[in-house]
Formats: sequence, C-alpha cells, structure tokens
Amino acid sequence: MRKAILASLEKEDEDLDYKIDELSSLASANNMSTETIISQKLDHPNSATYFGKGKVEEIKDISIQKEIDLLIVNDELTPTQLRNLTDLTQMEVLDKTSLILDIFASRANTKEAKLQVEIARLKYQLPRLRVSQLNKLDQQTAGNAGGGYTNRGSGETKSELNKRVIQQRISRLSNKLSEIEKIHSNESKARRNSHLKNVALVGYTNSGKSTTLNNLLRLCGISPNKKVFEKDMLFATLDTSVRKISFSDNKKILLSDTVGFVSDLPHQLVESFKSTLSEVTNADLLIHVIDSSDKHAEEMTKTTNKTLKEIGADKIPVIYAYNKSDLANTLYPYSTGNEINYCAKDPNSLEELIKMIKAELFKDYTVNTYLIPFSEGKYLEQLNGEATIIEQQYLVNGTKITAEVSPILAKKLNNFIIKD
Ligand code: GTP
Repeated sequence: MRKAILASLEKEDEDLDYKIDELSSLASANNMSTETIISQKLDHPNSATYFGKGKVEEIKDISIQKEIDLLIVNDELTPTQLRNLTDLTQMEVLDKTSLILDIFASRANTKEAKLQVEIARLKYQLPRLRVSQLNKLDQQTAGNAGGGYTNRGSGETKSELNKRVIQQRISRLSNKLSEIEKIHSNESKARRNSHLKNVALVGYTNSGKSTTLNNLLRLCGISPNKKVFEKDMLFATLDTSVRKISFSDNKKILLSDTVGFVSDLPHQLVESFKSTLSEVTNADLLIHVIDSSDKHAEEMTKTTNKTLKEIGADKIPVIYAYNKSDLANTLYPYSTGNEINYCAKDPNSLEELIKMIKAELFKDYTVNTYLIPFSEGKYLEQLNGEATIIEQQYLVNGTKITAEVSPILAKKLNNFIIKD
C-alpha cells in the first residue's frame, strides 16, 4: 500500500467526517493508505493552489517529515491547481475525480464499460496533460491510432499535436461506444415494449444492490447462472444487469442492478455512463438500497438522491430499502409507507419487499369476473399466462374466471366481463 496524505477544505454545508471517510475508502480501493488527514477552513478554494499558501507549506513539511510523496485532494482540481500543487509540494498529486476514474478503470470488465471509462479518463486528462505526460501518452495512443498520425500544420507544437491525437482517440472510442449502445438501446426498447414493469435497484456503492437482486432471484426460483457479481468492494458492478422475475401469482417485473453511486461522481463518468444508467431513468419504480449499518447512511442517502436528480430520475416513485438491518441491529423486516428495514440475505425480508413492489407497481390492476366462450380460447390462455387467477369454473357456455388483471388486459377482455 502506498502512503498518502489526504487533504480537504472544510466547507460549511458539508459533513467533513463523511467526506474524509469516503475519500479514504476510495484511496484504499486504489491500494493507498491514509497516513495523515489535513483540512483547512476556507469558503472558496484558492484558484491557483486550491489551499492557502500556509497550508500548502504545511503539507510539504509533513510530506518531508513523514516521507510521504502522495497527496490526495478531496475535490476535482483545475489543471492550474493540479500543476501548482505538484510544483509547490514536490509530491504526486491526485484529486478525487482521478481516484474514482482509476477504480472504475480497474473494475471495467465488459467492452462497453471499458470504453465508457477510457473516454471519461481521456476527457479528464486532456486539459491536465503536461509535456512529459504527453510524450508518454503519445507513445500509447500512437500505438492505438491505426497507422499513426502526421503533423499537419507546420506551426503546430508537439503538445498541440499530442492533444489532437488524444481528441481523435476520444472521438474514435465514442463512435465504437455508440455502436454498442445502439444494440443495447434496441434491447431496452424491446423490453419496454413488452409492457413489463421496470424496477431499478439504485444506491450508494456497496449498499447491497447485487445481493438484493441475487437473493430475490433465488427466492423466485431463477437459476443461479443469472446471478450478478456481488462483493464487499466499491463499484463491484459497473454494468447494468436486467433480469426478468416471475412471481408465483403470475405477475412479472424486470429488475435491474446498476453502477453504485458515490459523492461527486465525476461528470465525465456520468456522461459516459448515460446509456448504462438509462435503465434507471426509464424505470417505473426505484428501490433505493441504503446500508443502514453505516454511520454515514444519511449522507449516503443524500448523495444517491442528488445523483438521481442529476441524471433526471428524481420523479420516479421510490421504495427506501434500509438494508443490512442484521448489522444495524434494527427490527426487520419492518415496513411503513414507502420504507422498509430489511436484510438482503433474509427470505422473510425479501417477501416483504416483494409485497411493497407489487403494491406500488400493480395498484391499477383490477379484479374482474369474465365468461370466456370456448371459441375464444386465446383469451383464456392470455389470462392464464398474464393474470392472477383467483377462481376458475367450467360452465356449459364457457369458462367463468375471476382474475386480477392489468389495465391493458382488462381493456381487451371488456366484452367478456360479467357481474358475479
Ligand atoms: P456496488 O456494486 O459496489 O455498487 O455494490 P452493491 O450495492 O451491489 O453491494 P453488494 O451486493 O455487492 O454487497 C456489498 C457487500 O455487502 C457484500 O459483501 C454483501 O455480502 C454485503 N451485504 C449485502 N447485503 C447485506 C445484508 O443485508 N447483511 C449483511 N450482513 N451483509 C450484506
């Protein structure tokens, strides 16, 4: 583990303790240990050096004393601040954005996630490149450029030329990403056209979204090879997985699990992950999973709500699912209104969660009694396939059936309705 100094500004409206703990877990996910924590009360960052002059000197002194050559700043630094802080402290300086980007890069498994992260990284790096880094990147990108590049304008400096190569790479990768996204967007359009309700698990990273999805699948008897990756680490899941769940009463939903949130999720990443997050923005219901055993649960909830607003998903109905109640020592399962205390590993908790999901999603369903003539067998088939059958009786002139049906099915069957 590489030793690091963590440095933050103390802003009035922020919970510094939460922010520092979060940064420290991001650092440890990058194999860096927090040796010293430094903060400064300042309303606005210094535009040239982020911290005030005295604080920068203090950081440098500590780095010499404790032989630490890595400084992690709890914010996104401007290119000028990054350059000046590096020069003044003689340390390697990383900001929060680059830490998050590095973790995403190490977790990306699929072609789509790899492209999304690389584009976000290049966009972040572009204005921050120095000549020495440019030369290094130049070698990397030239190798990928497929035939290299030529110096077009005679007045173009080496640095301009390198930046142009990176810009070309960004646009080439963006084109590749659009192709993959087109396929996925067709798949999700097809899912939406299937009239199935979409439920998305959202929440802070490591809150238990994947565990909730996997255990719901298990409870509904869906094969383990449909399991998604769950692990005690930040950003274990970067892709969106969508699974169809059929309940025993014939009701079906599509449930998706997607990338977890963290405060100040880099805008480059949010932009790059737009299509991955589209399952969230198009959902009929969100299950906001919260790790209730974490001392920063409240701040993490605010962070998730803020991110949902940023991606335009703040008007979708939500169930607040307070997970890990076993660790938080709270009574579970316990639900009230749109909130539930539960444990993602406990079947009773998941049954209660399913009840809440159904109550929200299927509240416009109605119970009707129909008489379906034998000549209209296809409707009977549809009822048996899509509706919750409450009672069925074979009469001489057809099948009498009482069922809970969706508004779409109710409309189709309107002619067969009978009064009980
Ligand atoms: P990201 O992919 O990082 O967004 O994480 P996630 O929200 O999908 O979390 P995940 O399901 O991977 O769970 C994170 C860790 O919490 C895993 O080690 C789980 O076993 C653990 N966990 C999840 N739910 C519970 C719970 O109810 N109780 C306990 N004790 N542990 C849980």
